[in-house]
Amino acid sequence: MQLPIRIAPSLLASDFTNLKSELARAEAAGADWHHVDVMDGHFVPNLSIGPPVVQSIKKVAGIPLDVHLMIENPGEWADIYAKAGADILSFHYEAATDNFEATLKQFKNTGCKTGVAVNPPCGVDALRPHLDEIDMVLVMSVHAGFGGQSFMPEVLPKVQQLRAWGYDGDIQIDGGISDKTIGQCTAAGANVFVAGTYLYGADSMPDALKELHNKVEYNDGISHS
Ligand code: DX5
Ligand code: ZN
Repeated sequence: MQLPIRIAPSLLASDFTNLKSELARAEAAGADWHHVDVMDGHFVPNLSIGPPVVQSIKKVAGIPLDVHLMIENPGEWADIYAKAGADILSFHYEAATDNFEATLKQFKNTGCKTGVAVNPPCGVDALRPHLDEIDMVLVMSVHAGFGGQSFMPEVLPKVQQLRAWGYDGDIQIDGGISDKTIGQCTAAGANVFVAGTYLYGADSMPDALKELHNKVEYNDGISHS
């Protein structure tokens, strides 16, 4: 199994007064997706942006929008964020424990690529029966809610577990990704990486993004070009 490595700069770390040029800067640096963090002040103790901003971003974005919903009652918002322009749309399992199957269906029905996110304390066993329906598992490597936190390597066994079950969809890691942390994530089997502070805060985003690709490691004994 060889999934492409994708890098998604997190807009949360960008200059919000210049969103259009920040999006262009990420695209020129070689970003694959824009990661858009949506927080509701309830599921996480922080607020960020909502549907009108996603809609505006969509108009000027030249690459897919990867929208990470950190919100309560995600199913009620699936259509709204899909219409606003999400291409990949992820919700948190913890926000839908009582009605997970129904919520997953609501997201699948939007036609977006569907991601399911888990915070560090949440295991992936409950996802196992549904993996055929899940396009991407988002393994949080910090507690959702804020940028700039330290990477938590203890979440990586979840990635290995998913691959050991034969999961061949995308596995995204979000939180504390840098040239120092990406290698252990790819070695565990992850292939999509969100990086906020490391990329938007870099002196040169193209160099920083290249460095992420340079630090990719595999543990399958094969040399990948
Ligand atoms: C955290 C967000 C992340 C965040 C990552 O709640 O989901 O996407 O922006 O930021 P860094 O890369 O700075 O940890
Ligand atoms: Zn995120």
